[in-house]
Amino acid sequence: MTELVMIKDVSKHVGETVKIGAWLADKSGKGKLQFLQLRDGTAFFQAVVFKPNFIEKYGEEDGTAKFETVKHLGQESSVYVTGLVKEDERSKFGYELDVVDVEIIGTSSEYPITPKEHGTDFLLDHRHLWLRSKRQMAIMQIRNAIIYASYKFFQDNGFIKFDSPILSGNAAENTTELFETDYFDNPAYLSQSGQLYLEAGAMALGRVFDFGPVFRAEKSKTRRHLTEFWMMDAEYPFVSHDESLDIQEAYVKSMIQGVLDNAAYALEVLERDTTMLQKYVATPFKRVAYDEVIDILQAHEGEEGADYEHLEHGDDFGSPHETWISNFYGVPTFVCNYPASFKAFYMKPVLGNPERVLCADLLAPEGYGEIIGGSERETDYDLLEKKIIDFGLDPKDYDWYLDLRRFGSVPHAGFGLGLERMVTFIAGTEHIREAIPFPRMINRIKP
Ligand code: 4AD
Ligand code: MG
Repeated sequence: MTELVMIKDVSKHVGETVKIGAWLADKSGKGKLQFLQLRDGTAFFQAVVFKPNFIEKYGEEDGTAKFETVKHLGQESSVYVTGLVKEDERSKFGYELDVVDVEIIGTSSEYPITPKEHGTDFLLDHRHLWLRSKRQMAIMQIRNAIIYASYKFFQDNGFIKFDSPILSGNAAENTTELFETDYFDNPAYLSQSGQLYLEAGAMALGRVFDFGPVFRAEKSKTRRHLTEFWMMDAEYPFVSHDESLDIQEAYVKSMIQGVLDNAAYALEVLERDTTMLQKYVATPFKRVAYDEVIDILQAHEGEEGADYEHLEHGDDFGSPHETWISNFYGVPTFVCNYPASFKAFYMKPVLGNPERVLCADLLAPEGYGEIIGGSERETDYDLLEKKIIDFGLDPKDYDWYLDLRRFGSVPHAGFGLGLERMVTFIAGTEHIREAIPFPRMINRIKP
């Protein structure tokens, strides 16, 4: 069998006859011509079938029959197509296939997702098929490029991959968002973040990262929330809060650059404004304190576009505040030193101001919201134990975590990035549900 060429690679085969394994995304035709829109997961492009070519190859009767079969192929039929690769300036993709032969592999009829518009619920019910569409392919390619850039950044910067467990005996974040499960007659929880385990890893191996699914039983029905999503956590000893922000900034930039370099076709399919992405790589991110943000929000309240709710110092932001503030700066913005009251128990207080903690949320511009949450961690055994109790948690569940402060406690910091938030931001999509192959939301667990 001839080796198959992937559609994304046809540019390397101009003037050659190649064979492609593909599905028929759409087709149109007139007289002796059929235009097949082929897709193979790597890209979409057009193959042109000219009836006389079939007749020349197979004779009048068989050639005509073959042409008729192709003409009546249903959407999503699978085919091997052999043809000559030609450069074609009229097509957006730049190349076209002059078809010599078509072999049908699997037929398809009444494919539910037609090229017309469909409602979101219908598409989500057919997610297993929706993934085949051009836009979804492009988003998944961007997701892949982000994951690839992520691993590369950490490996290049001295981090070791350290896998944290999914089943856990204690909460990592807010206990109201825990999925509980029965673990041989005892309660266990699905991980909300690998962080606490990663702290143990940092004390054993230095710079560490993990990357895995996490779960939040959040009753949030927004375009930014999933109940199952992928988090990349990183943790590092002997690093201060500011240095931690340097690492995060370099990391986010490396992912954006990685997508620009390795998923240019996908960005083009999505019509993402790449000048914005280039700007985020080239410009330093903004760093601003929570209390300063509150002052700025108050000062601009009521102005055009600033129709957010009034906030006092100590109040948490809603998404309108996050959107406004990140647009105000126009670049990804670290909002630092939030009130301790609405952040997790493990964060270290700001020196001389115990009401505030050494943390930062990275807000993406263009309304994409928080993509990273990070902080410097409490290193003192007694203070940490007190915080655990104050947060209504049982120190017995955290004895192992407290141990990290008993045996050679060191300053350390870390952060967690929500992969799907990052995908949504870089791909420029409206809703997080398209950023993961099979989204899990409050009212959706199928398919
Ligand atoms: O801010 P979060 O809750 O931070 C932590 O879990 C820390 N333990 C991380 C750490 O320090 N290692 O979550 C981190 C990120 C958020 O910034 C956001 O991008 C994403 O995870 N995230 C969600 N993404 C989708 N759906 C949800 N329900 C999310 N909740 C958080
Ligand atoms: Mg957060």
